[in-house]
Amino acid sequence: MFDPSEDSFALTDHAAELTEKIRAGQARVGTIGLGYVGLPLSVEFATAGLPVTGFDLSAEKVKAVNAGRSYIKDVPDERLRTCVQAGRLAASTDLGGLGACDAVVICVPTPLSKTKDPDLSLVVEAAKAIAARLRSGQLVVLESTTYPGTTEELILPLLRERGLEVGADFFLAFSPERVDPGNPRFGTRNTPKIIGGVTPACTAVARTLYARAVDTVIPVSSTQAAEMVKLLENTFRSVNIGLVNEVALMCDRLGVDVWEVIDAAATKPFGFMPFYPGPGLGGHCIPIDPLYLSWKLKTLNYRARFIELAGEINSEMPEHVCEIVANVLNDQERSVKGSRVLVLGLTYKKDIDDVRESPSLDILRLLEARGARVGYHDPFVPKLAWNGAALRSEDLLPAVRAADVVVILTDHTGLPYGEIVDAAKAVVDTRNATRGLRSDKVVKL
Ligand SMILES: NC(=O)c1ccc[n+]([C@@H]2O[C@H](COP(=O)([O-])OP(=O)(O)OC[C@H]3O[C@@H](n4cnc5c(N)ncnc54)[C@H](O)[C@@H]3O)[C@@H](O)[C@H]2O)c1
Repeated sequence: MFDPSEDSFALTDHAAELTEKIRAGQARVGTIGLGYVGLPLSVEFATAGLPVTGFDLSAEKVKAVNAGRSYIKDVPDERLRTCVQAGRLAASTDLGGLGACDAVVICVPTPLSKTKDPDLSLVVEAAKAIAARLRSGQLVVLESTTYPGTTEELILPLLRERGLEVGADFFLAFSPERVDPGNPRFGTRNTPKIIGGVTPACTAVARTLYARAVDTVIPVSSTQAAEMVKLLENTFRSVNIGLVNEVALMCDRLGVDVWEVIDAAATKPFGFMPFYPGPGLGGHCIPIDPLYLSWKLKTLNYRARFIELAGEINSEMPEHVCEIVANVLNDQERSVKGSRVLVLGLTYKKDIDDVRESPSLDILRLLEARGARVGYHDPFVPKLAWNGAALRSEDLLPAVRAADVVVILTDHTGLPYGEIVDAAKAVVDTRNATRGLRSDKVVKL
């Protein structure tokens, strides 16, 4: 493992001073973007004793943070309030405050454009705001997921415009965020943190910062390696989910229960890691990040074939689920048009409240386009903006009874699946939420 030992190169005065400030708990941290990544990170730095200012364009989020009110499920109000009341965490919409920060961490979204290319406009905006106030002795870290090369090709030139030298006057690193929302075991503190700096001094300073708030910090040799680590992790998931979705399609044709096959394969104590099929990919990471990598490779005349194939299979899953629903209705001598379909679960995975890129929304849209009368139940999503109006989460069992078919798209913990199956006319289960329940009303993916 790469180890930029502090003895192997000389730290400049600015690096030594900043390191000392961090160790003494006097370095002010600024986080840009107070979302799923930035808010937990800000709370972690503040809990570790550093003064933190969180910056966000959303006045609503800033107001909530300053009032000690959390809008991220993984950050309990009490933890946030403790930091705010102790004067260690404040939020602001005024990026002018960036100049007073010793370390600035960028946690803004990195979405895709309409043409499915990387949209780094928010990262550039944040970097420009930092560059306009950059001074000697500052550390800048990018956490937003992006393609290899972003930190040095896009951010470094903006910061250099101030005439300061990287690694000597100011410090720049990439550290991918690996947060898994809703994970009860692993949060920001106990998930090891990868760090790659532009120079060894950059890595060393960034490592000192994160070591205050995170249990394990793992340095790598460059910003590009750190950027690639995150993309390997998420591409690994996307490709394996694509593989297991294809295995589900194959098992369907073979008349074999894919869930039984996976459970049995997972008894192998080595060389196999279970992934599960589902209605499609969702969330801010897995459907998007691999496309950042394939886009970058296209510029180098290389086609990322595994990524493309996995993307193709995964994006066909919502249509496949609709086919199953149509077949189930057909068995009731009904058409999709006019039938009442209740979707259980809107979020892209269980026990969280995030519907970004959720395949449930695609499936609702596809079914509605075929004339179904759609409704949903999701304890985490009381209402959903839909076609210019609002859909509301329906009362579970009355809605189940009223539906011609119930489609389980998210396997939230704690839903009474036994009662749902008993009350339903038919159930399509894309998550094996009804495992262990024997009923010929249930059709699984
Ligand atoms: N959500 C996850 O589970 C997760 C996990 C790992 C990595 N990531 C990556 O982390 C990054 C952030 O994701 P997120 O889920 O926290 O996004 P988010 O949408 O929850 O939050 C981003 C915040 O940034 C603010 N913002 C946008 N542009 C800004 C600007 N110029 N100045 C100040 N504030 C600005 C937005 O108002 C928003 O509050 C993305 O690159 C994402 O891919 C996310």
